[in-house]
This record gives sequence, structure tokens and C-alpha cells, in this order.
Amino acid sequence: MRGRRGWTRRPGIALALVLAGAPAAAGDLPGDPERGRALAARRCARCHQVLPGSRGPSAAEAPAFQAVADGPGASEAALRAFLQTSHEDAPSVPLTPEETGDVVAYLLGLKGWRPPG
Ligand code: HEC
Repeated sequence: MRGRRGWTRRPGIALALVLAGAPAAAGDLPGDPERGRALAARRCARCHQVLPGSRGPSAAEAPAFQAVADGPGASEAALRAFLQTSHEDAPSVPLTPEETGDVVAYLLGLKGWRPPG
């Protein structure tokens, strides 16, 4: 039966689309970089330059996130470990493990960032 065959094929196609639509590196990231970016804007931008490509000096000698991401030590494990402890007086409210994953995902996503065009 034609209709039935069409229906049974659809879930596989939908799944393929979902997988293809995800950003290439999403499977390797420890969290959601978009949520991480929003969180960084709220919680980290007071001291850090958090936007892609911003390398300029930040308040309080805090390195720009772009510089952190491009540094040799920018691995998930190292960033997670660093963010488990508070640094300076930040963050005053500790990040949950999920928030940490999101911020680390955002940071790792900045690695090798180049201006568009
Ligand atoms: C009160 C200011 C302040 C806030 C807010 C702050 N930081 Fe920092 N951060 C610093 C300073 C200063 C340094 C450099 C000295 C150090 O490593 O402790 C630093 C260093 C870092 C480093 C290490 C960079 C390296 O050398 O490897 C990371 C990663 C980092 N911050 C992430 C974050 C994240 C994520 C947030 C938000 C959740 C945040 N920081 C909020 C001041 C701040």
C-alpha cells in the first residue's frame, strides 16, 4: 500500500533532518552555546569581553573570551575545572553544572573564530 509505505518512511527522514540541522560540532559540545552566550552576557560581561572577536582589554585584567578560546589551554576539561572554583569575586552565584556546560560550549565555539566575510 503506497500510503502506508510513505508513512513508515517518514520518521527516519525526520530524524535525519534533525541530525543534519544541528550545528556540525554540537555532538561534541558539553552544552548549548546559545544559552551559554546569554549567560555569559549576564554573568561574565562585567569583567570579560564575551563576544566573538572581542579581544580588547577588559575590566580587572580579565582575558577576553576570544583570547581564552584561542589559548592552548582551552579544553572542555580545563574550562570546567576552572569554572568549578570561583575566580576573583566571580561568579558570585555559582554556576550549576548545566550552566557550566553551556558556557564551556560557548567558549569552545569561539575557538578559531574569524570575522565573517
Ligand atoms: C569580577 C570580574 C569577573 C567576572 C564577573 C568573571 N570573571 Fe572570569 N576572570 C576574571 C579575571 C580577573 C581573570 C584572570 C585572573 C584569573 O585567572 O583568575 C579571569 C579569568 C577567567 C578564565 C581563565 C582564562 C585563562 O587564563 O585561562 C575563564 C575561563 C573565565 N574567567 C571565565 C569566566 C566566566 C565563564 C564568567 C561568567 C560566568 C566569568 N569568568 C566572570 C574576572 C572575572
